Amino acid sequence: MTDHSIKRTLDLKFVRLLPAIALLLFSLSSATAQDTAQAAPPAEATASAAVAPSADGIPADEAVITSGRALYENNCTQCHAFNEVVVGPALKDAHTRWKLNNMISFIRYPQKYIETSRDKYAQGLYAQYKQYMPNHDFLSEAEVLSLVAYIKAESVKPAAAPDKIAGPPIFPPPTKDSGVSNELVSLIFAILIFVLFVFLVILVFLINILKRFIENKEGVPDDEKALVDQKFDLAAFFKSSFFRTSVTVIALLFISKVAFDSIINIGIQQGYSPKQPIAFSHKLHAGEYQIDCNYCHTGAKKGKAAVIPSANVCMNCHNAIKPESPEIKKIYAAIEKDQPIEWVRIHNLPDHAYFNHAQHVTVGGLECQNCHGQIQEMEVVQQYSPLTMGWCINCHRETAVNAENNAYYDKMVSLHKTVSKQPMKVKDIGGLECAKCHY
Ligand code: HEC
Ligand code: HEC
Ligand code: HEC
Ligand code: HEC
Ligand code: HEC
Ligand code: HEC
Repeated sequence: MTDHSIKRTLDLKFVRLLPAIALLLFSLSSATAQDTAQAAPPAEATASAAVAPSADGIPADEAVITSGRALYENNCTQCHAFNEVVVGPALKDAHTRWKLNNMISFIRYPQKYIETSRDKYAQGLYAQYKQYMPNHDFLSEAEVLSLVAYIKAESVKPAAAPDKIAGPPIFPPPTKDSGVSNELVSLIFAILIFVLFVFLVILVFLINILKRFIENKEGVPDDEKALVDQKFDLAAFFKSSFFRTSVTVIALLFISKVAFDSIINIGIQQGYSPKQPIAFSHKLHAGEYQIDCNYCHTGAKKGKAAVIPSANVCMNCHNAIKPESPEIKKIYAAIEKDQPIEWVRIHNLPDHAYFNHAQHVTVGGLECQNCHGQIQEMEVVQQYSPLTMGWCINCHRETAVNAENNAYYDKMVSLHKTVSKQPMKVKDIGGLECAKCHY
């Protein structure tokens, strides 16, 4: 093979590869374009918002926003900031979490709204913050609308440096953004793909040059030439040891991942919901008939264990209610035989961990639902929380101590105020110390 023919092969190959290269460049550039497009909208949105009222009905008038800002600074800043939780939630993008009308009624009459509207989101906020925002009935609907306009205008501003103050870290609801910027990741990917592609091109060139060389070489036996000329054979590929090894390796990796995940989850019984010996329904008793949790779980306010009620407690009602039901007859049978009903235990910490109900319910002021979920809606109780150490610790990091009307905490609170602007969290009173939870 002459120099000339090598050059020709190169040219020919290069021409054939051109479309592929063009495709690659195109996809790279469109990926970057997308990134910039994603980064851009805030600025555009503000610009267009300044001229026309937007589709969501929130005014975008500068004057309205300015009066909203004044109202906000006078009435809201003691409990809210945009990018962090103070007493109430961070208000950035709050307007996107509500229907406009609901948001206005909520801001004016929070407690009434939460109690009467059946709005799951609002009820969730209350469950999380454990206090009602005060009424703002002294503000007219138009004034509240201007507040919403200000919230929106402030939210769509390109993110400024976060207004964090030194102090304990706070845990905002997890967002989709991870630590590493998306753009960086896609850039690295693009570079990797490009490098791989360049390798591929070089390999194809080399193969072709070598093929030509062998084809043109005198004295190569025909069967060897046939070997060089052979086309890619799919059936042979599937039979090849390369293919088999890859499939085996991938399968092994997959199995180990599944095994690893299940080992990590050993001992975690979130969602555990065993069948009970009597079809006792919390939905009926605690939900429909609104029997207080503490009527049956008498220990929850007073001691370590919440306690499962004995059959006698059931008899307070069931000696008269539905005595003919087969399920109720099981209660009678237990009492006659003087044997306890064998309820299957659902929540169960390992012996090395110490958990006390009264500390959380009576002192901490937590609701049962914070940890057990909406028990009053469960036909069959299921374990709502993971009950892992991380779960305990996370809540201790995030939850402010309920120090109101509790003189025990007065000194600690005033000391805490001198070092931090954040409310005093459980971690600040030792809630992360190993010995508090481990015997
Ligand atoms: C005394 C503290 C306090 C003040 C003052 C206060 N808020 Fe709130 N705000 C809260 C709490 C607590 C919540 C959580 C909901 C609940 O439990 O009622 C909340 C929730 C909100 C929400 C819902 C946030 C979301 O993430 O969806 C908005 C919107 C809001 N407040 C706006 C305002 C505005 C506007 C003002 C001023 C007029 C204001 N708040 C004043 C405590 C306060
Ligand atoms: C009429 C009595 C009664 C009332 C009222 C009641 N419970 Fe129960 N609870 C029981 C009985 C009996 C069991 C055991 C059977 C079962 O798991 O369903 C139980 C089980 C539980 C369990 C699971 C215990 C375990 O094994 O880990 C939790 C958690 C619980 N209740 C929470 C609540 C909460 C929260 C409320 C109030 C919303 C409530 N209960 C109201 C009788 C009651
Ligand atoms: C404060 C009163 C009260 C107590 C205490 C109480 N129940 Fe009930 N229970 C009721 C009422 C009311 C009904 C609904 C009866 C009906 O559907 O007519 C009911 C229904 C039931 C049913 C469904 C019966 C059927 O066949 O429809 C079961 C099972 C039951 N209770 C079990 C228990 C058990 C077990 C306990 C003790 C842990 C208990 N109850 C404690 C008031 C009570
Ligand atoms: C801070 C979280 C938390 C709160 C709030 C809470 N629980 Fe529990 N609950 C637990 C944990 C953790 C266990 C497992 C305890 C163990 O295995 O030692 C448990 C176990 C139980 C059990 C079964 C075992 C026992 O202790 O008798 C019942 C019943 C129960 N809780 C009812 C209640 C009721 C009723 C309330 C509200 C008055 C409540 N819990 C509030 C975390 C909580
Ligand atoms: C929903 C939030 C929440 C969860 C979940 C939670 N705790 Fe707590 N915990 C609190 C609060 C609030 C207090 C502060 C009560 C007080 O004022 O003493 C507290 C206090 C404690 C204390 C006393 C700390 C001290 O320094 O006095 C211990 C011990 C404790 N929790 C153990 C646990 C264990 C163990 C778990 C997990 C099985 C757990 N907690 C899960 C909210 C929570
Ligand atoms: C707020 C309560 C709490 C504190 C503080 C705490 N733990 Fe735990 N820890 C638990 C609970 C609850 C479990 C059981 C978790 C489970 O069953 O998955 C646990 C489990 C463990 C385990 C067993 C492994 C596991 O994950 O199940 C070890 C080891 C452990 N803790 C060590 C520590 C050390 C060391 C510290 C101090 C740095 C500490 N814990 C502080 C609540 C706590």
